Amino acid sequence: MNLSPWLLFLLLAFVVSSSSASRYIIQVEEPIEPLTGSSLKSWHESFLPSAVEESGANRRLLHSYSEVFSGFAAVLTEEELQAVEKKEGFLRALPDRVLRLMTTHTPDFLGLEIGKKGLWEDTKLGSGVIIGVLDTGVTPGHPSFDDEGVPPPPSKWKGSCDLETGCNNKLIGARSMLSDLGQSPPIDQNGHGTHTSSTAAGNFVRNVSYYGLANGTAAGMAPRAHLAIYQVCSGNGNCNPSDILAGLDQAVKDGVDIISFSISSGSTPLNLDPIAIGSFEAARKGIFVSCAASNYGPDYFTLSNEAPWMLTVAASSVDRRFSAFVKLPDGKVIPGESLDQPTNFTKSSLPLYYTDDCLTNPPDDSHRGNVWVCKATESGSPEYVAKIVKSHGASALIYISWKVDGATIQLFKLNFPTVVIADQDGSDLISYLNSSSDPSASIVFNGTVLWVSPAPAVAYFSSRGPSLATPSILKPDISGPGLNIFAAWIPSIGSPDYKIISGTSMATPHLSGVAALLKAAHPTWSSAAIKSAIVTTANADVYDELLKPAFYFVKGAGQVNPNKASDPGLIYDITDDDYISYICGKFGGEGAKTIVRGIVDCSEFKNLTEAELNYPSILLSPKGEEMANVSRTVTNVGPARLSYKVSVSVSNPAASATVTPETLAFTELNEQKSFSVSAKWVAGGPPSTGNQFVDGKLTWTSDDGKYVVTSPLVISVMEP
Ligand SMILES: *[C@@H]1O[C@H](CO)[C@@H](O)[C@H](O)[C@H]1NC(C)=O
Ligand SMILES: *[C@@H]1O[C@H](CO)[C@@H](O)[C@H](O)[C@H]1NC(C)=O
Ligand SMILES: *[C@@H]1O[C@H](CO)[C@@H](O)[C@H](O)[C@H]1NC(C)=O
Ligand SMILES: *[C@@H]1O[C@H](CO)[C@@H](O)[C@H](O)[C@H]1NC(C)=O
Ligand SMILES: *[C@@H]1O[C@H](CO)[C@@H](O)[C@H](O)[C@H]1NC(C)=O
Ligand SMILES: *[C@@H]1O[C@H](CO)[C@@H](O)[C@H](O)[C@H]1NC(C)=O
Repeated sequence: MNLSPWLLFLLLAFVVSSSSASRYIIQVEEPIEPLTGSSLKSWHESFLPSAVEESGANRRLLHSYSEVFSGFAAVLTEEELQAVEKKEGFLRALPDRVLRLMTTHTPDFLGLEIGKKGLWEDTKLGSGVIIGVLDTGVTPGHPSFDDEGVPPPPSKWKGSCDLETGCNNKLIGARSMLSDLGQSPPIDQNGHGTHTSSTAAGNFVRNVSYYGLANGTAAGMAPRAHLAIYQVCSGNGNCNPSDILAGLDQAVKDGVDIISFSISSGSTPLNLDPIAIGSFEAARKGIFVSCAASNYGPDYFTLSNEAPWMLTVAASSVDRRFSAFVKLPDGKVIPGESLDQPTNFTKSSLPLYYTDDCLTNPPDDSHRGNVWVCKATESGSPEYVAKIVKSHGASALIYISWKVDGATIQLFKLNFPTVVIADQDGSDLISYLNSSSDPSASIVFNGTVLWVSPAPAVAYFSSRGPSLATPSILKPDISGPGLNIFAAWIPSIGSPDYKIISGTSMATPHLSGVAALLKAAHPTWSSAAIKSAIVTTANADVYDELLKPAFYFVKGAGQVNPNKASDPGLIYDITDDDYISYICGKFGGEGAKTIVRGIVDCSEFKNLTEAELNYPSILLSPKGEEMANVSRTVTNVGPARLSYKVSVSVSNPAASATVTPETLAFTELNEQKSFSVSAKWVAGGPPSTGNQFVDGKLTWTSDDGKYVVTSPLVISVMEP
């Protein structure tokens, strides 16, 4: 496993910060009498060394949290922190850190189309739902945030708008939570927040493109939903948990329904992660929290945002390519893609020049006008390689991706005629170069191609399970489009208002938008019910970056299928008490006090194991020849009278699984039925080499065949 970058940062920060002041999130006990507004703030200030609050850049109290966390954020020296720790009511101090962002045809790809039966029609495109986006801010006035056709916000909306140009029915609120900047308006200086918010709920904008590519009508997943923007990251893409927690706090206060969070916090134990703690309170208030899995794939154990009350989203490809290819003299085509597709590029064959390292100077001037073939290198980004190659007079670049990327072709605008090809295809090209004394090829820029297979395939960068923080919860939950995604961007002179970028950051708002549609279709469903509907109806036919069938730790349940998710038949619901029982079981009474707000007495709750939580996917870890058992409860949200039969399968004879009872007969809407799932290693026990996990699935199928409710099932040798 890699040391994650923020962990390195923490180690460094520890070395350098001992004498200077640092940012802390201070958790305090709940005040005996509930406090609000300025009295809450004064109480928080009373913990600080000097009761006199400083202003502007010298401000010590950065945020006073009221909704999702009992405490505040402050700047303190180590001595001051020691003084704060002695105050009555102090619980603990969590050091603040620096987190990173995880840097349209996609509605059609997911089956959402205007004029067709489905979730868009049923929900009037997500009308009435508020999506809170915690990101780098927004670009007001961008056509994707036009409010044509969007109704006024619901009366529960209590947020404010700090934009000089004001808000509208699409962009109903916008605030900066950045403690460093004071009260400046939340204008996006990065582009990331503009991209993610337009992906979740951008309005329809006709006839747009990125330099002619991805042309058509742009739209977010919930084009009539409202957006509330909370700027929690600065223009350079740095974000602090203290500001993120303030964003969560404000979003809950304002009345959002969905939170979209495309930021990686690294894997952190839930009781030490202010974002997991804050989102638990948000989830308890009925808010759906959709989060990026992170971009640290393809290694296992690289997830973040792993709490069971979060939706953890992996990134996959869509069936669109920005096609560009290399044609060899014998007619063989080496496929690739490009965001740099000049329309006037020569159709003739050009000499090819290949060198191990394109960043070293060529021996002479004889390769000017050639097409240079370069492999990805540690010493320079694709942009840098393109610049060097251009400076040597190349006519075009064929850029061979890393082997580890597999078939994932992540595109960047290089401002030079380029074809990016996968490593596998690069080998074919290099064999040709090896075999020819006078190699040449023609380059064809083929534009946007739709309905390409294979798709979807999870991108190499998408983080993978198992989850370190929640090892018995199967994470990620789901995949959404996250490779070469077209969405709104900050306009600048000479460049379009849209951009194509990749990341689990891009996949997350797709799911936030889908959750908004489901919320509009089913206003009474809990967040756990919405997640269950998304998970149990997913399309499991998803590849990994090597184009092999993806394992659950890569794809989650599979690719989201919004129309099916709207009518799942059965749901796996989780109540607040279930979550508290789980927290009591995992962290004990003292630990529960740091996660759950209010007075919680674990002796009044069951101690639920992680595997026992009523999650829509199932992960079992039988020991030796022993049987592992869990129970699950499903709620009927389909027709009142319907019976379901179970089928359970395991892909490897090393393990077996059974379910009892095998049928569930419902007679009422919202009726609940429980069943138990058992799994064990067969005879010789788990495989001792190779994969330490066996996958399977558990499916309830209704007698009329209309409902197919599938839970991913993993049998693992991991000790939870
Ligand atoms: C689409 O945009 C292009 C370039 O901006 C313009 O030339 C074309 O006329 C537009 N087409 C339609 C149907 O509006
Ligand atoms: C994109 O542009 C091409 C070429 O102008 C055109 O043939 C195609 O129909 C356009 N696609 C969409 C979805 O508008
Ligand atoms: C192609 O067009 C671009 C931009 O219009 C121009 O800069 C370039 O010189 C042209 N290339 C050729 C080979 O004509
Ligand atoms: C090309 O030739 C080099 C040097 O002879 C060799 O190391 C390499 O394996 C060859 N590559 C392919 C793909 O044939
Ligand atoms: C080039 O584009 C055409 C039409 O869009 C498509 O059918 C074809 O498969 C593309 N060729 C390659 C090699 O991608
Ligand atoms: C749960 O476990 C804790 C010890 O970790 C114990 O104090 C508590 O009573 C248990 N709760 C129940 C309901 O058994």
